[in-house]
Amino acid sequence: MPISPKHTLASIDYYMVGISKLPGWDEPIKLSSNESVLGMSPSAVQAAQEAIKGGHLYPEVDTELLAETLAERYRLDPARMAFGPGSDEVLQRVVNAFAGPGQELIHSKNAYMQFPIYARVAGATPVAAEDRDFHYNVDLILSKLNEKTRIVLLANPDNPSGTYLSGSEMRRLHGGLPDNVLLVIDSAYEEFASRDDYESGTALVHEFDNVMVTRSFSKVYGMAGLRLGWCYGPTWVIDILTKIGPSFPVNSASFAAGVAAIRDTDHVDRVLAHNRKWINRLSQQFMQMGLKVYPSETNFILVEFPEEPGKTAAEVNARLNENGIIPRQFAVKDFDNKLRFTVGKDDGMEKTIAVMRDVING
Ligand SMILES: Cc1ncc(COP(=O)(O)O)c(C=O)c1O
Repeated sequence: MPISPKHTLASIDYYMVGISKLPGWDEPIKLSSNESVLGMSPSAVQAAQEAIKGGHLYPEVDTELLAETLAERYRLDPARMAFGPGSDEVLQRVVNAFAGPGQELIHSKNAYMQFPIYARVAGATPVAAEDRDFHYNVDLILSKLNEKTRIVLLANPDNPSGTYLSGSEMRRLHGGLPDNVLLVIDSAYEEFASRDDYESGTALVHEFDNVMVTRSFSKVYGMAGLRLGWCYGPTWVIDILTKIGPSFPVNSASFAAGVAAIRDTDHVDRVLAHNRKWINRLSQQFMQMGLKVYPSETNFILVEFPEEPGKTAAEVNARLNENGIIPRQFAVKDFDNKLRFTVGKDDGMEKTIAVMRDVING
């Protein structure tokens, strides 16, 4: 028998990252990957450059400074944190640690498309709960529970929809879970969430022993290329994740940049103000064109297009590409008539609105 990967990997698909190149355009307007167009904090850039001088040495194993800086910023307990090269890696580690063959991970059908991949990598079975027009539905998620369930994994706010689950609904969901099921809340976009009824999952971590949260430096901190993520959970969970994680979970440049980025609250404020301005304006403009826009608590919006010739998502995408603009298309059936637009720079946003007006309103 030839060697083969474990059977749960047979049906795995590539996670399609957003495209970044367009033939004929040296600097296309890239709105496809939920990156921060305002970049990293200048002090984070400087800290990373300084740290690179020590690049021949293994990084600090001790992530205390980073944990303490985060703890101070978000009023958390530094002993409940673990780090990794992006929250993607941390999430994969969590799923590997808590779910395996014969066990199930429940996710919501149109949520972050990596979730079923994590389950399969762990040898577990992903179980998709239906949503309601791209909003989580707690009852439908709870209806998937059975004795095999080990993890319920939700992104809050969610990607690609941009929608969120309120604190009270998250608590209702948690209340329906038995103690042996871990609720994992992927909060990569948490900093953008501004609604009064949004509640950070970290509050639940303080109250319950079966909740954990992952967070990212890729979004509001603009450090997607440096790959830094973290999680917050019960100490017994953090202990396991640390034991099974990489020997050196954070590279020196990311570590230094992360500390500086957290401290530069002015930069974060600028990013949030820019984001809010464009989420509002872009949503309003697209709605005025008669398009359906999903309400967003993130740094992107999901837009639905009609099945009218010339105005379908595929045709609009082609026209935007002709004009040097790259929104995000998804090769998934429920997203056939949708495109996702990440907040870009002012001029890129104005151009996107102008081209869209041209295509949609003729
Ligand atoms: C919902 C969600 N979770 C996790 C991630 C992974 O982020 P990171 O760059 O921290 O690995 C992303 C990235 O786009 C995301 O959208």
